[in-house]
Amino acid sequence: MPKLGGLEFLRWAQVEEPKLPVIILTAHGTVDTAVEALKMGAVDYLSKPFDQDEVRRLVRKALQVGQLAHRDASNPGVGGLPEGTRFGMLGNSKAVRDLYALLDRVAATPTTVLVTGESGTGKELVARALHQHSSRSARAFIKVNCAAIPQTLIESELFGYEKGAFTGAVGSKPGRFELAHGGTLFLDEIGEVPVEMQVKLLRVLQEGEFERVGGVKTSRVDVRLIAATNRDLRRETAAGRFREDLFYRLNVVPIELPPLRNRAEDVPLLAVFFLKKFNERLGKSVEGIDHDALALLTRYRWPGNIRELENFIERAVLFADGPRIKVQDLPAEVSGSPSPEPGLEAASSTLDGAGFGEGLKEQVRVAMARIERDLIVRALDQTHGNVTHAARLLKISRKGLQLKMKELALRERSD
Ligand SMILES: Nc1ncnc2c1ncn2[C@@H]1O[C@H](COP(=O)(O)OP(=O)(O)OP(=O)(O)O)[C@@H](O)[C@H]1O
Ligand SMILES: [Mg+2]
Repeated sequence: MPKLGGLEFLRWAQVEEPKLPVIILTAHGTVDTAVEALKMGAVDYLSKPFDQDEVRRLVRKALQVGQLAHRDASNPGVGGLPEGTRFGMLGNSKAVRDLYALLDRVAATPTTVLVTGESGTGKELVARALHQHSSRSARAFIKVNCAAIPQTLIESELFGYEKGAFTGAVGSKPGRFELAHGGTLFLDEIGEVPVEMQVKLLRVLQEGEFERVGGVKTSRVDVRLIAATNRDLRRETAAGRFREDLFYRLNVVPIELPPLRNRAEDVPLLAVFFLKKFNERLGKSVEGIDHDALALLTRYRWPGNIRELENFIERAVLFADGPRIKVQDLPAEVSGSPSPEPGLEAASSTLDGAGFGEGLKEQVRVAMARIERDLIVRALDQTHGNVTHAARLLKISRKGLQLKMKELALRERSD
């Protein structure tokens, strides 16, 4: 170190990379330096000559410290990790605590799991957590997005192919089942698998065997299967789009992820977590979220769930010009600011392609009813179906709103 001493370097590192854990290596007998380094925040020190096991032990310790520091930084003001946060997931609501308990019981087993839930509720995160907390964690986690593979290629993707199996098969290739041997295979969007393929999947699940496309040899694999879908597979089964026998094979342990609106108390925790994440990623230093903005976020319906929240916070961090995220930094869907566009859109799309047969008055009446309905639905969504609050947002009386709802055939929610 020709230019800086060790301690100067430590000081520099703490400014440039505050979360980097540092171990100081000192020359024999310079205990003072070591003590000084520890005071300055080094994780530990070694003096020459050193022992390899000792280095390993210290590095392991430093990595642990580093991870903790990292997580602390992700959750400011909560005093380190928020209570109950596990499996790399955030959440402290009853629904999420139940989920942790279920994951605890299921992760270590080789059981097939079917993860369901609306878009963006964390199905993939759960699949990965199950793998990571299983005895297979050192082996592969292979993900297949069944919706992203053209139907004609699904079989060769999953089971592989032999040379000459089809035009272009110049060599042989193992499929995802073979790649996942000893580990976990995650079949995402399982509801999109065509019925003919479902038969072949059923066979692997039942017998553990399959053949490569164009191959004659039967292969056996040891794979833990996790499947996910945002479809209601029971309904798909009833409609004949999903094989019932496959459904039961997959549904050994069902894990249903709650939509974010049913665990709104987790919103602030998640919002702050994403705030820190995007501060770091975008090089911003937004300090927090205004009370009013947070209240709006907590009340919103979140059709896109956690992913939607993540996207909103990313945008808000990117565009925030003050130190905190304010209501006006949130998208209109959340802030419910009455923007004229949706109404106009509704009106013009009602008119699109329509003739004049019905006449001006009738066309306008239909368009108005649509705008009215649109605004009322949005107000009810935002207030979770509370008619009194929705009426206040719409600046009409509660009675008036109830009449309108009847007229437009909107039912009051009972939940
Ligand atoms: N409990 C959680 N804590 C922190 N982040 C989460 C949590 N659940 C989900 N996320 C994050 O939300 C995003 C969406 O999660 P994920 O991709 O697992 O959802 P999904 O259910 O698979 O969605 P889709 O149906 O759209 O595929 C990811 O960035 C994920 O890291
Ligand atoms: Mg997914």
